[in-house]
Amino acid sequence: MQDKVPTGLDRKETEVYRHLDSSRLPKHIAIIMDGNGRWAKRRHMPRVAGHRAGVTAVRSTVETAARIGIGALTLYAFSEENWKKRPKSEVDFLMRLLSRYLKAEVTTLNKNDIRLEYIGRQYELPVDVQDRMEWAREATSHNSGMTLTLALNYSARSELVDAFRSMVNAASQNGGMEHLRIDEDTVARHLYTRHLPDPDLVVRTSGEMRLSNFLLWQLAYAEIYVTPTLWPDFRGLHLLEGIAEYQKRERRYGGLNHGEHAAPAHAKSGK
Ligand code: FPP
Repeated sequence: MQDKVPTGLDRKETEVYRHLDSSRLPKHIAIIMDGNGRWAKRRHMPRVAGHRAGVTAVRSTVETAARIGIGALTLYAFSEENWKKRPKSEVDFLMRLLSRYLKAEVTTLNKNDIRLEYIGRQYELPVDVQDRMEWAREATSHNSGMTLTLALNYSARSELVDAFRSMVNAASQNGGMEHLRIDEDTVARHLYTRHLPDPDLVVRTSGEMRLSNFLLWQLAYAEIYVTPTLWPDFRGLHLLEGIAEYQKRERRYGGLNHGEHAAPAHAKSGK
């Protein structure tokens, strides 16, 4: 039970926070924001209305995460597949929404000591959006509280391809291919997320049980929390509920439960 509650949490958030163990908060939370289209459809509104409402959910989630001292929050805003497979009008709307969000939010991000980063093939986005992204990154680069990473035009498989290319490139500039040594640390150092610890918790909204090409390497040992809540209805309170669920789980990293004795290898799986 927590006696000290961070300032800024509302009454319901405070209630959930009081039952959390502040020494065991996840260091990095990743979120697959899903269900904007369904949220809009249920209200007989166009899909883009769901995206617009999704910005309020982003704001609430980011602020609550920063207030309780989460070190890193990564939001899957836009996959490479979204970019290539959705109608141009929806993609254009999302680009404008992102641009506006960045412009409007920098002041609040600075107030909450949040540093903005991106993962994904940024160079494929419209140039004006890239410029706005760079501006927002620069304007928050001095902050040292939470790192908010937006995954934009992101695909985990493309990230791995880029990492392998980058490793080969580094080796060829550093003595040639015969010096190429690859282990897990080398791969991790060439991923887009090299500046972040692996997520401890991944949240997916709208009840879907998929990773959808998100952080496939980094989520190897993450706890998965799926909530039926559609993204536009998600708030800081739901994030705290996800963290409460995370704290009930026992993380084993392929080992045994606390106090459990080793059984023959064939009797146990490593998962
Ligand atoms: C998934 O819902 C959501 C997206 C593809 C876009 C996410 C964008 C936002 C939350 C708003 C803008 C974000 C930022 C960072 C400012 P979906 O359209 O796939 O929903 P559906 O599965 O119900 O169709």
